[in-house]
Amino acid sequence: MNRKVSALGRMAALWLTGLLMAVPAWAGDGVIRNGALWPDDGVIRNGALWPDGDGVHVNAHGGGVLWHKGRYYWYGEYKSDSTSNALVGITCYSSKNLTDWRNEGVVLPVVTDDPTSDIARGCIMERPKVIYNVRTGKFVMWFHLELKGQGYSAARSGVAVADRPTGPFRYLRSERPNAGCLPTGWTAEDAARMDTLQAAHYAKWWTPGWRKAVAEGLFVKRDRAGGQMARDMQLFVDTDGRAYHIFASEENLTLHIAELSDDYLSHSGRYVRVAPGGQNEAPAVFRRGDTYWMITSGCTGWAPNEARMFSAPSIWGPWTQHPSPCVGPNAKKTFGAQSTYVLPVEGRDDLFIFMADRWRPEHPSDARYVWLPITFGPDGVPVVEWRESWSLDDFSGR
Ligand code: GAL
Repeated sequence: MNRKVSALGRMAALWLTGLLMAVPAWAGDGVIRNGALWPDDGVIRNGALWPDGDGVHVNAHGGGVLWHKGRYYWYGEYKSDSTSNALVGITCYSSKNLTDWRNEGVVLPVVTDDPTSDIARGCIMERPKVIYNVRTGKFVMWFHLELKGQGYSAARSGVAVADRPTGPFRYLRSERPNAGCLPTGWTAEDAARMDTLQAAHYAKWWTPGWRKAVAEGLFVKRDRAGGQMARDMQLFVDTDGRAYHIFASEENLTLHIAELSDDYLSHSGRYVRVAPGGQNEAPAVFRRGDTYWMITSGCTGWAPNEARMFSAPSIWGPWTQHPSPCVGPNAKKTFGAQSTYVLPVEGRDDLFIFMADRWRPEHPSDARYVWLPITFGPDGVPVVEWRESWSLDDFSGR
């Protein structure tokens, strides 16, 4: 795009919006306002729009943020006005301060001229996350992919790669992870027990026998040859540079934490299962000191539910469940939102931001964002307290 034209257009848009709204200029005070307009365009109004530098509501849902060389890159799903299917692709916005966002465009577009493509227009591309591989110098994106016309039955993971954080990303392939692999740490007895499970005996869900069979790997067995189902997902890079793909597997009953290869472009085959049968979705993982934390949601589609939380001394577990970290009005419904990412803020002491989506399935592009700072109780347990607005400046620099 012609930069000059775009800059002029932006100025005109800002001027017009300011005129129409007739409200005072935004102070640029770094305040994050949840449930209200959060502009860098000088306009504040009630409601929950979050304009980018062009005055347009940020369209990066189910997103995650990568910090790279002094800038934050926010990747997410471009949602259209009347469908949650992917008509456009994965977007990127960038910012230096987490409050003023520049639209970097569509970094992984859907394919419009080949209906047989995995990412043909009309497929479902959800919860993209991007990580940087220090060894290869590449930016690697994984996302949840559902093939066009197949509802949510494909349960695949897509992967794409780029030389720059703003793309373009080159789509590589999709797969169901860890075909042929058993969970790491399983003994020969565990494997033998799984082998005895006969799917025909467990056609009825939620019976005590079915629950036991799920815990023992009923669905791991079913999907062993073709790879494990993968829907809501997260990526996490540990301090040693190893990366993990965390996803809702086994019919959304059980989370898998799967190690990625050195180049982050495939799975190493090592994975663990978390909370078998617990129906966790929307996993957001972070590490504080030597403790790994994971905030998740339950499985109620686009409708909000109560967040869950787990901790572990290692990414490999054991994972222990805690009560929801949410506190305040509507905490039982995660403030009307669903987790998507936890962002460790660069240069701030101990500041992690809980990022969540307030979905709006009847008007998907109008879904809103809830970003809240995570505080830590005296016992080190995370607390996510509702705040109408807050400032990064409330948190001291490192
Ligand atoms: C949610 C999930 C979203 C989307 C939605 C579809 O539970 O977190 O990412 O898949 O279901 O109904």
